Amino acid sequence: ASNQLNQEKQLAAAAALRWVRDGMILGLGTGSTAAHFITLLGEAVRNGQLRVQATATSQASEAQARELGIPLLEPRRGLRFDLTVDGADELDPQLRLIKGGGGALLREKILATASEYLLIIADSSKLVPQLGQFPLPLEVVPFALPWVLDAVAELGGPPVLRHNRQNPQEPARSDQGNLLVDCHFNQISDPAQLATQLQTIPGVVEHGLFLGLARAALVTQGEQVMVARP
Ligand code: A5P
Repeated sequence: ASNQLNQEKQLAAAAALRWVRDGMILGLGTGSTAAHFITLLGEAVRNGQLRVQATATSQASEAQARELGIPLLEPRRGLRFDLTVDGADELDPQLRLIKGGGGALLREKILATASEYLLIIADSSKLVPQLGQFPLPLEVVPFALPWVLDAVAELGGPPVLRHNRQNPQEPARSDQGNLLVDCHFNQISDPAQLATQLQTIPGVVEHGLFLGLARAALVTQGEQVMVARP
């Protein structure tokens, strides 16, 4: 099954490459699906098929892009992205998203917001009728952690502090050095209301609900890549 999903990710990434035009300024996503896209983009850049410039949503994607010779842009005033291509952990039929499974939600939301067009690429397992089965990630300032955990539990999403994969005694850290908390809501019936509630908790730097940001999604079902729009 995971082989099948990996092939679906690859097909979605290949379809997304056809959305890239010469000269575009791109945002590069994070995760295994986005990594497929960056690989294909790197090939097109090396072949001279595409000239692009890009900014990445994580240190990992930035390192991958640099290695492939994709020209990188630092954040600066006025910088806007023609297109950002990123994965998602869940998407619903209105293209509301849960993101942050890879811990990059803050930079992902910054680039999504600075983009004219956010294109999501996903395998079939990501499309769900209702958000919330995937635990909703939060990026949290370390000092605020105990109170954030209390507040999120109160909202009905049992929180779990994410641990470092290589070193499980240690907490996971975002690229910014903050903590990551995964909130098990199970069902999120009103994503907009929840987003507002989470934003008002001091110390929550960002949450993984992406609402009204995705303009289209390429979701592979088997061999077929479907285009979904909100
Ligand atoms: C990264 O923080 C996430 O938002 C990713 O976009 C998400 O985890 C998707 O990952 P895969 O493409 O590996 O499934």
